[in-house]
Amino acid sequence: MIQSVFQPDDTPIVKLENITKRFRTSRGDLLACNDITVQVDKGISLGVVGESGSGKSTLIKTLQLLERPTKGNVWIGGQNVTLYSEKRLKPFRRRIQFVAQDPYSSLFPNMTIAQNISEPLYVHGISDKKERRDKAAELMELVGISLSYFHSFPHELSGGQQQRVAIARALALSPEVLVLDEAVSSLDVSIQAQILNLLQRLKKDLGLTYIFISHNLAVIRLMCEQLAVMYLGRVVEQGNSDEVFRNPLHPYTRSLIAAIPAFTNNGVTPLPSESLLGGNRPSATDLPKGCAYQTRCPFATEICFREEPKLEAMGNGSLVACHNAMSASDNA
Ligand SMILES: Nc1ncnc2c1ncn2[C@@H]1O[C@H](COP(=O)(O)OP(=O)(O)OP(=O)(O)O)[C@@H](O)[C@H]1O
Ligand code: SF4
Ligand SMILES: [Mg+2]
Repeated sequence: MIQSVFQPDDTPIVKLENITKRFRTSRGDLLACNDITVQVDKGISLGVVGESGSGKSTLIKTLQLLERPTKGNVWIGGQNVTLYSEKRLKPFRRRIQFVAQDPYSSLFPNMTIAQNISEPLYVHGISDKKERRDKAAELMELVGISLSYFHSFPHELSGGQQQRVAIARALALSPEVLVLDEAVSSLDVSIQAQILNLLQRLKKDLGLTYIFISHNLAVIRLMCEQLAVMYLGRVVEQGNSDEVFRNPLHPYTRSLIAAIPAFTNNGVTPLPSESLLGGNRPSATDLPKGCAYQTRCPFATEICFREEPKLEAMGNGSLVACHNAMSASDNA
């Protein structure tokens, strides 16, 4: 969705359309993703934020079709690939590559750095050893890893260097989109900054588009033009990232932003402390009737306990699922 920024005839690189993912658990059914529509167009990176358990990773797994959605469609480059077999998915998978949170566990410990980086080329049928080695060297240079590590093993590198290797490997097949699921959160703050700088440079130099998943809104603000805020399986606010940070309309988004000290002096009014993510979060297998945020929301009114709010376009171009979005923002 996020219609406002796209020309009608643009074909998005990725579109997740009305994605629902239901898990059956011993405590009942759990809607990890509930009717989510997001779109990623070339050069317009999307950030997905939300607390633990809000469904961010599940959404990305449906995009990769590692989890098939219970309902909804996955479009890649204008083709509906939802029901494609693994074989038919292969060329689509190479267009979208993934960088995980923990670089060490995402690398093969018994392969050298060069082998790790060039392994996707082998998987995708490039059997020429020299071509793979040359590509590995080129990618090491691109991500700032000294060639002296060419024959080293992952455990010989620091966490930041390992994440550079993971990024190099993700770039081996020249993807259009990199999906980064908490890709810097396990690193020290100064190393995080270096990796974010690298990602910004790669975005510019290679024309990459990111889908960035993070608990850290500061990271999303830095990296993404578009933002989707998730709460218990639903997108509750989405839109242009600058606009959402400047003028968050959903009470949950407001609380998230106000809870970041760096942003409280940056044009975003902090909420009173008692509303900062207070209250109890309901169980994902036992959501209340109406709005799922009602147990924590200082703006809840009678309708919130009765009717689930739908995502609706607001005057500022954002989509917000809240019965009282405007009055909540007026009162904050
Ligand atoms: N395979 C599964 N079976 C049952 N429940 C699952 C499964 N995968 C995820 N869930 C549940 O779905 C919900 C969303 O999980 P998900 O991992 O997508 O959240 P997340 O936003 O990525 O959280 P985090 O920030 O902790 O990574 C959670 O309640 C989780 O327990
Ligand atoms: S719909 Fe009601 S309970 Fe939900 S976020 Fe809006 S005001 Fe709060
Ligand atoms: Mg996750």
